[in-house]
Amino acid sequence: MAVSMKGRDIISIHDLTVEEVNQILDTAQILKMKQKIGDIYHPLQGKTLGMIFQKASTRTRISFEVAMWQLGGYALYLSAGDLQLKRGETIADTARVLSRYLDGIMIRTYSHQEVLDLAEYSTVPVINGLTDLLHPCQVLSDLFTIKEKKGRLEGVNLVYIGDGNNMAHSLMFGGAKAGMHVTICSPSGYEPDPGITALARADAAKTGAAISIHGDAAEAVKTADIIYTDVWASMGQEEEHAQRLKAFERYQVNSGLLAGARDDVLVMHCLPAHRGEEITGEVVDGPRSIVFDQAENRLHLQKAILALVM
Ligand code: CP
Ligand code: NVA
Repeated sequence: MAVSMKGRDIISIHDLTVEEVNQILDTAQILKMKQKIGDIYHPLQGKTLGMIFQKASTRTRISFEVAMWQLGGYALYLSAGDLQLKRGETIADTARVLSRYLDGIMIRTYSHQEVLDLAEYSTVPVINGLTDLLHPCQVLSDLFTIKEKKGRLEGVNLVYIGDGNNMAHSLMFGGAKAGMHVTICSPSGYEPDPGITALARADAAKTGAAISIHGDAAEAVKTADIIYTDVWASMGQEEEHAQRLKAFERYQVNSGLLAGARDDVLVMHCLPAHRGEEITGEVVDGPRSIVFDQAENRLHLQKAILALVM
């Protein structure tokens, strides 16, 4: 039975029910198929999405903009530096004003609280396009990609190697809802937030997923179906780059690591990739890599989100 998601905020996968996650994935599959056969579908005719960006973006900006266009609507790029936000207008007033013009708001910013505040004062759905804490649209897309490639999510074993950052957090939340086992391998001091890990484990207990934190990447990848990595220094951490290069040097996804994994292991990365840092060129550009399928699926998955909530 379809559940209505009209007006729903998409801020954290933890807030979604298992049924809602499945509905998003099923809708993405239908919309991807429609696009591939050239079937025009315009459920968002006359509707506008505002997209606030406090940080850079290639995939998120373009995939959301194209998604709105393909669904018959319009997307407005709002650079935070050009909004009155920069001059001290509150998030609450911004939310109330934007709600009078727009049918949905997507926001990419630093502070997760800012997205929560925006949603509190907005009367239109708010979509989290990445915060320092979470990246739900990326991980919902990744669940869709894994399901396409592996035919299932339940019982799939995903091993994430790297920083316990927004991607690690959302992967734990996504895995927990989907019944997919997620192991996070991070150097000491860079593990995921314990509060997020605890919430993910509580969700996982309901679906049979296992959420593990493991220090030894070589050991963890032995049974992996998917090896996932992300940049060592996220947006906003540029000044820590040199220190992080050192801290993460034993956490690179390279052919040596892959040699200890199964032959059918797939390698994922949300991109942008830094070849020679978290992943080597031969792996990201090699036969096990599905990173560009991941990037494409942002479009299909976000079309599903937009069509469902707007
Ligand atoms: N993966 C991702 O969100 O990419 P962008 O930063 O380019 O949007
Ligand atoms: N962890 C990365 C993800 C980029 C899509 C960052 O926040 O910069």
